[in-house]
Amino acid sequence: MANSGSADAATNGASVRADRLAAASDATRAVHAGERAGRPRVSDSLTTPIVQTSTYAFQDTAELLAYLEGRHASYEYGRLGNPTTRACEEKICELECAEECLVSSSGMNAATTMLLALVPAGGHLVTTTDCYQGTQRFIETVLPKMGISTTVIDPSDLAALERALEEHPVSMFFLESPTNPFMRCVDIPRVKELCAPKGAIVVIDSTFATPINQRPVTLGADVVIHSATKYLAGHHDVLAGAIAGKAELVAAVRKMHHMLGGIIDPHAA
Ligand SMILES: Cc1ncc(COP(=O)(O)O)c(C=O)c1O
Repeated sequence: MANSGSADAATNGASVRADRLAAASDATRAVHAGERAGRPRVSDSLTTPIVQTSTYAFQDTAELLAYLEGRHASYEYGRLGNPTTRACEEKICELECAEECLVSSSGMNAATTMLLALVPAGGHLVTTTDCYQGTQRFIETVLPKMGISTTVIDPSDLAALERALEEHPVSMFFLESPTNPFMRCVDIPRVKELCAPKGAIVVIDSTFATPINQRPVTLGADVVIHSATKYLAGHHDVLAGAIAGKAELVAAVRKMHHMLGGIIDPHAA
């Protein structure tokens, strides 16, 4: 059926699509019927919808250009962002009192992506003996391939941290507080005092605390990470990781995340 001259572009588009679909196969009609027929892509639903899509559409080239130039807010491709995941990131960011947050597929993904993004090739890392085994294994076996060396200290031995900072150009002090498995807590403000003058960033794996019990960024940490699989999600039904902290550091991690692709499923987010 032809559209009247007064029909708006959306109605017109939906009608043209309906005409085309009428002539299409059952399979094509099943796939395309009702999809984006003049509706906004991200709905005005009061609650956050689970946006289950791998990619996003633009009305035309002008809208795509506006998106690329930052004049049109939308999403492009699922590995690069998802509105449901973004809502989750904003919640954790808020709870951690951080500038930015990135959510990923697991705690290991958060730790490994963060380390690959923030420790430069040939850099020096300081970490502690009391540390989740998976992270430890990554530091021992993968980081050396990038020429990254490591000093491992006892979490309570801040004199050893001072020595490492004197002896090496330390890029990062990465530690858990509370630690897994022994629940030892580290004096984060003191650690920051020691690391900041040497230009070493401080990253705390705060999995065992959650932001309800500890906010490392407010104590001086540059970045906080989580295995959200644990206490943060709380119900043993989700695998997830989070990285929050200074905007420019989280932006660098996000860039690496876009390449490595450890995306959380929007249902989990
Ligand atoms: C402190 C800590 N960090 C990171 C991880 C890794 O998290 P995930 O199992 O979500 O990959 C764990 C897992 O046990 C952990 O306890």
